[in-house]
Amino acid sequence: MEFSIKSGSPEKQRTACVVLGVFEPRKLSAAAAIVDAAAQQYLGDILRRGDMEGKSGTSLLLHGVPGVEADRVLLVGLGKEREFREKEYRTALSTAVRQLNETGGFDGTIYLTELPVKKRDVAWRVRQAAMIVQDALYRFDRLKSKKEEVRRPLRKLTFCVARRNELPIAEQALAQGLAIAAGVELAKDLGNLPGNICTPGYLAEQAAQLAKSHGLTVDVLDRPDMEKLRMNTLLSVARGSHEPPKFIVMRHAGGVAGAKPVVLVGKGITFDSGGISLKPGPEMDEMKFDMCGAASVLGTMKAAAQMSLPLNLIGVIPATENMPGGSATKPGDIITSMSGQTVEILNTDAEGRLILCDALTYVERFDPECVVDIATLTGACVIALGHVTSGLLANNDGLARELIEAGYEAHDRAWQLPLWDDYQEQLKSNFADMANIGGRPAGSITAACFLARFAEKYAWAHLDIAGTAWRSGKEKGATGRPVPLLSHFLIERARAAAKPAPKRRRG
Ligand code: BES
Ligand code: MN
Ligand code: ZN
Repeated sequence: MEFSIKSGSPEKQRTACVVLGVFEPRKLSAAAAIVDAAAQQYLGDILRRGDMEGKSGTSLLLHGVPGVEADRVLLVGLGKEREFREKEYRTALSTAVRQLNETGGFDGTIYLTELPVKKRDVAWRVRQAAMIVQDALYRFDRLKSKKEEVRRPLRKLTFCVARRNELPIAEQALAQGLAIAAGVELAKDLGNLPGNICTPGYLAEQAAQLAKSHGLTVDVLDRPDMEKLRMNTLLSVARGSHEPPKFIVMRHAGGVAGAKPVVLVGKGITFDSGGISLKPGPEMDEMKFDMCGAASVLGTMKAAAQMSLPLNLIGVIPATENMPGGSATKPGDIITSMSGQTVEILNTDAEGRLILCDALTYVERFDPECVVDIATLTGACVIALGHVTSGLLANNDGLARELIEAGYEAHDRAWQLPLWDDYQEQLKSNFADMANIGGRPAGSITAACFLARFAEKYAWAHLDIAGTAWRSGKEKGATGRPVPLLSHFLIERARAAAKPAPKRRRG
């Protein structure tokens, strides 16, 4: 699909379909009113006859509107003007795209990006529009032998802005939106692939391909390398599986040489059966999504590279299956982690923290500016926060604030939970430095407390995406979250790094 930005009169657009907004009740948006004047109240008459109220989520397709160059006019309901906020804006755009896709035309010119959204500027509206469109058009049918054909697929979309002087900002926002959308798409594809295809080796191949196409560098450590590094907790999870584990390290060197890197660490369990502490049967298939943290790291690396963000970024992915087997780790086993700390494994299903803790120790060598790990870590997080927001825990409040802010900006939100030392007690073990589980209370917090013990040397945050990385039920599928959050976080980091240091007064 091709995208462009334009500023110009809606009645003069030569396009298969011009898309205009209607507020409730029956009030034309500014662009729609211009078309209405050119069409001698053709639109106004239709509203007066009661064919469209303007409710959010509705639309009306018109052909042969007089005085208009476009073949069609699509009216999209916006809800009440005073209540027109982010949610209504997003609904309007996804409704528009779905309807456009059903028409016989190949292109569309969308005036919804002109609409004022409270507290949001034109850059935000265009960036979101690009992401919403790509999200609405996403299909995962590569494993179906017969694909559903779209009769006349959309080929070109144009977003309109009200003033010419907004064009440069809108162009840049479009490029950002499309880069983030490309990252989201990659994360969705990897998440949706089944465990028999998307193995640790497959993730490593995908990382190598991405590196080649986007100018990144990649290193993949194999089992013997991990053994040399004594990544024993990571290897303890891999013991039950026949799939060889991989430890993937990717670099985007966009910043000045020597500048400390931002490091992302993604949980890459390509299937989580629970191991010897086997999970119950229902919905176990969804544990193919247990590598969505890893997928979000790959997706974010792609977006960052595509935007040529001026910062140094490292993505690290510990990848393995968690399976039962004759040589699998057993409850009660004690393992010495790469950090030297010992762990009593009381439940082999709490495996995410076991692969992440060695990765967190490994990344010390990069002398990171900060480290963010992303993991489908705990079912408890789904109970606490549902599917709306990711869980966020951090040993640094400034970093936590940046991530919350980025999530809000991207409409991919995170909510902070406390990481107080009081919770550490729940990890006490009679036989080792710590246990790998902390009992039922505050399961997401004790999981983060476990990780915190391996992240003491740098500013660190943890995103628990167990509730947000995929949808269950009829719409089952990966969401690509939190690629938008992470991308915005990096855009802001790069902007802050590029600012000249504030001048200090001489005393
Ligand atoms: N991958 C799961 C977490 C998960 C479960 C995410 C369900 C989304 C939906 C993780 O490895 C796990 O099994 N966690 C256990 C931890 C427990 C044993 C302390 C859990 O949440 O039940
Ligand atoms: Mn598990
Ligand atoms: Zn897991």
